Amino acid sequence: MQDAATATPETIFLKDYTPFGYKVDSVSLTFKLAPRATRVISKIVFSPNPETTDARFFLHGKQLDLKWAKIDGTEIATRAVPGGLEADVPTVPFLWEAEVEISPETNTALEGLYQSNGMYCTQCEAEGFRKITFYPDRPDVMSTFTVRIEGSEKVMLSNGNPTASGTGFAEWYDPWPKPAYLFALVAGDLVNHPGSFTTKSGRPVELNIWVRPGDEGKCAFGMEALKKSMTWDEEVYGCEYDLDLFNIVAVDDFNMGAMENKGLNIFNSSCVLASPETSTDANFERIEAIIAHEYFHNWTGNRITCRDWFQLCLKEGLTVFRDAQFTSDMRGAAVKRINDACDLRGRQYAEDNGPLAHPPRPDSFVEINNFYTATVYEKGAEVIGMLKRLVGDEAYTKALDLYFERHDGQACTIEDWLNVFEDATGRSMKRFKRWYTSAGTPRLSVKESYNKGTFKLTFRQDTPPTPGQKQKKPRVIPIAVGLLAEDGTETHPTQVLEMTKRQQSFKWEKLSAKPVASILREFSAPVILQRETNDTERAFLLAHDTDPFNRWEAGRELSKSTLKAMITTGAPASALYLDSLHAAIRDDAQDPGFRAMLLTLPGQSELAQMLHDDGVTPDPQAIYDAVQTLKLTMAQQMQDTLPRLYAASQVDGPYSPDAADANKRALAGAVLGLISRTDGGKTAQAQYDDADNMTQQLGGLSALLTAEKGEAAVQAFYTQWRHDRLVLDKWFMLQVAHAAPEATAATAEALTRHADFTHTNPNRFRATLGALAGNHAGFHHDSGASYALLADWLITLDPLNPQTTARMCAAFQTWRHYDAKRQDVMRAAMERILAQKDLSRDTTEMLSRILS
Ligand code: PHE
Ligand code: ZN
Repeated sequence: MQDAATATPETIFLKDYTPFGYKVDSVSLTFKLAPRATRVISKIVFSPNPETTDARFFLHGKQLDLKWAKIDGTEIATRAVPGGLEADVPTVPFLWEAEVEISPETNTALEGLYQSNGMYCTQCEAEGFRKITFYPDRPDVMSTFTVRIEGSEKVMLSNGNPTASGTGFAEWYDPWPKPAYLFALVAGDLVNHPGSFTTKSGRPVELNIWVRPGDEGKCAFGMEALKKSMTWDEEVYGCEYDLDLFNIVAVDDFNMGAMENKGLNIFNSSCVLASPETSTDANFERIEAIIAHEYFHNWTGNRITCRDWFQLCLKEGLTVFRDAQFTSDMRGAAVKRINDACDLRGRQYAEDNGPLAHPPRPDSFVEINNFYTATVYEKGAEVIGMLKRLVGDEAYTKALDLYFERHDGQACTIEDWLNVFEDATGRSMKRFKRWYTSAGTPRLSVKESYNKGTFKLTFRQDTPPTPGQKQKKPRVIPIAVGLLAEDGTETHPTQVLEMTKRQQSFKWEKLSAKPVASILREFSAPVILQRETNDTERAFLLAHDTDPFNRWEAGRELSKSTLKAMITTGAPASALYLDSLHAAIRDDAQDPGFRAMLLTLPGQSELAQMLHDDGVTPDPQAIYDAVQTLKLTMAQQMQDTLPRLYAASQVDGPYSPDAADANKRALAGAVLGLISRTDGGKTAQAQYDDADNMTQQLGGLSALLTAEKGEAAVQAFYTQWRHDRLVLDKWFMLQVAHAAPEATAATAEALTRHADFTHTNPNRFRATLGALAGNHAGFHHDSGASYALLADWLITLDPLNPQTTARMCAAFQTWRHYDAKRQDVMRAAMERILAQKDLSRDTTEMLSRILS
């Protein structure tokens, strides 16, 4: 059966939620694996759900060839309806049985059961299980699963614990009731990197990372990260693992980073495989964070899941928040917070301030796959950070304990989550809830006054309208503030002000002199702070603020202020900025990772967004030129310091991905990027030639490209790494990322004709076309060639892989910020995609929202 005519995209609303009419008491699945004709036989015990009167028996199903269906042993006739089937069923518990045929080998969407390098694997979140068999594929239907896999593969895995295996088969039982989106199956000729863990109550757990033969040597780091995550979750949240076995599998073709299937996490190989020779420090950090993230889902997502997909941020926001806490603990809080703020501003603010803006909990969607967004994930995590700041650490712990106790085994809502905080703290969450239900980034403006010993801050919050939400009610905003005296000493340590109104003042009395305020410390809320200030005050805070986030922020504000002047008036780089930056990076008392962040300028798309917010139409080439000029000026002005700093930041001894060494390399890397603007690439070439790890090698290569001396190294790098698909992705990406604006489209286009380019592998596609969209000046180059190239490839990919295509449409989300000519060309590119026959629902929804 095919989809009964892929009907016009239908919008689904939160307000229409109704429970399913039946409960699933147990599921038993048999898979007879074959590349183009896998048979799936299901036995499902249903019983009428006493909580609902809706007796319609509807099972989701997509691209399934139904062979037969039975109820209580008797073959029945089913009715094909859009999106699945209906049947007449008894009013008492009954056994549903069905057999379907599916074709994993031709499944290029990488959703449901598919093959990657000949290995069978599944991806069911959000609605992929319906491509495996007929089922109520919704997260509030939970059941235990028994699975039998028949095939000739050496390794055949599913969720839970193994119960039996022999020649040609393996059986699994997962005792924990779960929604179908957490189902997983893997079968292939895999090898494992084993490990073990004993939980705090003494349960021995067998751990494995399963990979393709040849990748065994890249698993040790992931295994350690997993054990650290298991320990951390016990210590910090009291969450213990609940099966005898925990498996991770690395897959080359995967739409996302990784997936938290119960007891059988499936990872994009780029998010688990690591070795010093092939992975950068940034890769190591990301891998550790993603392993933690997926592991933490075992409690926040799996044991307590979502009632419906509108509640996605219930599991994702909380799990991102938890993995951020973990990374802070493992690698240092200040650098992690700065990284997260950069990421939020780069990706989430772009979303929140454009046509794709939506609340962390949306109230409608067409295709749920389009809502795995920075808003749901990262802003969802920020909202929890604010909640914790407002109620305090102790109350947060109490609320989380209550959450696990009250909702274990349930499919929950944001209301359930907030009720737990109300019950644990006695505070009303009614107003706070607006963070979940409204879209848009609040602008927080602040005015200062000082009079006879009284210092007053007056805040005002305004959120611009977003699609479907004109009026914005005030939100509860935790504003962390500290006060400094003129000599730089802190007179008032951080205190969290709670803003609840549209406009509100806070006072400090009996001061001996006007203080300097440090506002929104630790980036205490995801807002845009609009402050009456000047570069002198910023320089003061960069030198003296005791809050590391705000010290960095002062430097960032200075860099934005000078860049804005350079872009819009052609002013030279600010001497005050250069001098204060110079002083800050020479201060050896400061963490090298922190100093590396100070040396990193805001991204060009973030600058474009800033200009747009200030009412200036961004000129991508002018932004690019200003950034180049500023970097060159930095390199020239700090000419004496940089080589010294570079030498002092070298790490001796064998490579370790630990934060201490990685932070030193980060500083050395940032410094090298500047040095190569004045030394003709000499230092970069030496680093490239001597490198014994990928961080050094890639850093050297990237600096060589900056110095326009990278040609030979690019060739050498390819020859050295052509056998390693993950390193090759870096090779594709780096060339596009470093291309000059006028050469970007041609560079990307040539790479798409390279023998190693393949558009069906999402990593390679993103490495090349994602880098095209990420090279701001190159993507928006006057010629329009990049827009056209991206559109061509999105058109090619859409019929094969709608999810990855749709996500990449976000490259066009800021189109209205640019001049009329660019707008016209971008609109034409989007309309050309939209005009394709049979364009996917995913891509159609994204482009229609962006154009609307
Ligand atoms: N739930 C996964 C995570 O956050 C992400 C994911 C979503 C993966 C959809 C695949 C498909 O960890
Ligand atoms: Zn997640």
